[in-house]
Amino acid sequence: MKLSEKKATLSFSDGSNPVEFPVYQGTVGPDVVDIRKLYGQTGMFTYDPGFMSTASCESAITYIDGDKGQLLYRGYPIEQLAVNCDFMETSYLLLNGELPNAAQKADFNHQVTYHTMVNEQMQFFLRGFRRDAHPMAIMTGLVGAMAAFYHDSTDITNPEHRHISAIRLIAKMPTLVAMTYKYSQGQPFIYPQNDLSYTGNFLRMMFATPCEDYKVNDVVERALDRIFILHADHEQNASTSTVRLCGSSGTNPFAAIAAGVACLWGPAHGGANEACLNMLEQIQANGGIAKVGEFMEQVKDKESGVRLMGFGHRVYKNYDPRAKLMQETCKEVLTALGLENDPLFKLAMELERIALEDPYFVERKLYPNVDFYSGIVQRAIGIPTSLFTAIFALARTVGWVAQWNEMISDPAYKIGRPRQLFTGDTARDVVEIAKR
Ligand code: ACO
Repeated sequence: MKLSEKKATLSFSDGSNPVEFPVYQGTVGPDVVDIRKLYGQTGMFTYDPGFMSTASCESAITYIDGDKGQLLYRGYPIEQLAVNCDFMETSYLLLNGELPNAAQKADFNHQVTYHTMVNEQMQFFLRGFRRDAHPMAIMTGLVGAMAAFYHDSTDITNPEHRHISAIRLIAKMPTLVAMTYKYSQGQPFIYPQNDLSYTGNFLRMMFATPCEDYKVNDVVERALDRIFILHADHEQNASTSTVRLCGSSGTNPFAAIAAGVACLWGPAHGGANEACLNMLEQIQANGGIAKVGEFMEQVKDKESGVRLMGFGHRVYKNYDPRAKLMQETCKEVLTALGLENDPLFKLAMELERIALEDPYFVERKLYPNVDFYSGIVQRAIGIPTSLFTAIFALARTVGWVAQWNEMISDPAYKIGRPRQLFTGDTARDVVEIAKR
């Protein structure tokens, strides 16, 4: 980061001395006021719950311009990556800062491919779960459990160890998600097959059975690969910040990523695609397109507590660029699978049409986010709704790992330790139980 000539001055109405703070510039995006010395100089903290105005770190990985609806991975627009690159190239880019050449890509593919198997013991963890357990509950457990297996790479200060952990995480997530699915179906686990692509291999582990050959459908493979690319990173979102905070204590990388999985589960974050599809199904069951108007009235009524899932974003105050790409993919997949008349897709298009014209949404700059169409694509592919967030976790793992690695590699990194504005009781004496 570059020190700006500009400085920020904080003055107080009680006449105490103003304090000056340095301002830093990034390559693009808002400048930041460096308030690290605020407490030392004034005895005050800043107050910003929800991080509305706070940059929690310096990062060179992903940039979002929410007003323009722009998303860049290492400077490359998501629209170009989604069309010209596959998920493995995108992963290499996020981890290393540059797109791979052909030899680098082949080598990276090889490394990932040869780490896709998980220790056989992982099956026993799975068997401890109820068959109807939520996949994200299982994934949180399985990813955390992986911390127990790799004693050869636990020194997070060693870049080689961090690299091998990154490869293992990216490689094994599809295997774990597919095992979670197979377990819920009571079907045998399918082992990875090394002559398939990352995404083709995942589809086979999900949908093949030992009874017959499985042929990967090209359109479905491309669509899922695109879903992975679009979800691969999204700068300092809640789950990534969770991974950074958890990892900042120096914990095992699998444990830090398990924390990210847990955070992603929530409906305001990764759980939104599941919630969005459930919402579409519910509107469909209650009368479909004819009832859309009624549903929108509920959404606009603050008392109802109903939100239009898949709409709105903390950062994007314009169309989420991923939503456009996802809508394209959605059309492609539905056509390829002969589902052009899918009623949920029609319903989603109608909701979007109304929302983009309705002053409630226009005034609040609420646009479709990536989750609005991704659920319809996944459902068409045959992925059950409850597994959507696990697919998101699979794709986001590379982003989490890249951000974790960036943090640990920074010589200036510190354990994350937010402060608070305390409003509870001040010191008081414990009264013995009989007198309370
Ligand atoms: N439906 C109806 N109203 C909404 C919606 C929505 N989906 N999203 C925001 N609003 C309204 C709020 O009620 C609020 O109105 P007000 O100013 O009158 O009080 C205003 O828009 C601003 O919303 P906030 O909740 O303050 O915005 P915030 O940045 O905190 O929330 C969030 C962003 C959580 C994504 C929100 O838009 C939401 O809940 N969306 C639905 C869930 C969703 O799709 N999440 C996916 C996020 S993307 C991802 O994780 C991949």
